[in-house]
Amino acid sequence: MSNPKPLAGRIALVTGASRGLGKAMALALADAGAILALTARDQAALDSVAKVIRDCGGRAEVFLADATSEAAVQSLESEVKARLGPVDILINNAGINIRKPVIEFTLAEWRQVLDTNLTSAFLMCRAFVPHMRGRGYGRVINLTSMMSHISLPGRAAYSASKAGLIGFTKTLALELASDHITVNGISPGPCATEINKPILENPALSQQFISKIPVGRWGKVEEVAALALHLCRDESAFITGTDILIDGGWTAQ
Ligand SMILES: NC(=O)c1ccc[n+]([C@@H]2O[C@H](COP(=O)([O-])OP(=O)(O)OC[C@H]3O[C@@H](n4cnc5c(N)ncnc54)[C@H](OP(=O)(O)O)[C@@H]3O)[C@@H](O)[C@H]2O)c1
Repeated sequence: MSNPKPLAGRIALVTGASRGLGKAMALALADAGAILALTARDQAALDSVAKVIRDCGGRAEVFLADATSEAAVQSLESEVKARLGPVDILINNAGINIRKPVIEFTLAEWRQVLDTNLTSAFLMCRAFVPHMRGRGYGRVINLTSMMSHISLPGRAAYSASKAGLIGFTKTLALELASDHITVNGISPGPCATEINKPILENPALSQQFISKIPVGRWGKVEEVAALALHLCRDESAFITGTDILIDGGWTAQ
């Protein structure tokens, strides 16, 4: 018989929990019994996610933080520990995309993408992995992307950051394997969230994307959330150091 609350008693921290995939993963983990630490920069949006969780009988706390700031991540670590206790599950989901040709990128834009998508995961892991050590269970999930395996014109910074995140995932998995902490990437294909607004708002471009997806539609945030939940289960302890594509078959072509 399956356990309806497989994450009961676990504390899960999700970055970029204010909307999109982060929100969906936070709701799925809360539904599975986890206590949620929700973080991003938009207080009102985070409060509304926390309200949904509390209205369903769960527990969630909101922590405002810019995941690219070393000082903010250090304060986040002490605040989360003080208010909730040691984190068992860390989902590094905060991310942005700036789409333009390489020769048009400013250095500031390049750094903004790398800082948000890659360096933030390093800062968060350095702060929160010590919470997990020596406790027999830990989960780190990094939101990589289909664009770390393939690319498109205009995606240099994004692809570089996400491919780098896969390398980081593998190294950290090796460093933590003997501590029963798994570290994995989830590589979604196109999902209908704010990060894809420029595509979604352009019907011709949106159709062009759909035509490249063998299942013939955008991915659903709940589908990515279900995969994240699977990786958090006790039964997933042997899955580590890998990156799982969830892309409707795009990269199989
Ligand atoms: N949707 C897709 O098709 C897709 C495909 C592959 C990979 N992904 C990856 O999945 C993750 C989530 O994307 P999404 O689709 O849910 O996009 P989204 O709706 O734009 O959400 C991005 C989240 O990141 C947060 N964020 C951005 N910069 C931040 C910063 N400096 N500090 C803290 N939080 C920050 C945002 O919150 P605030 O603005 O409130 O801070 C927001 O909650 C990203 O890493 C993205 O690259 C998405």
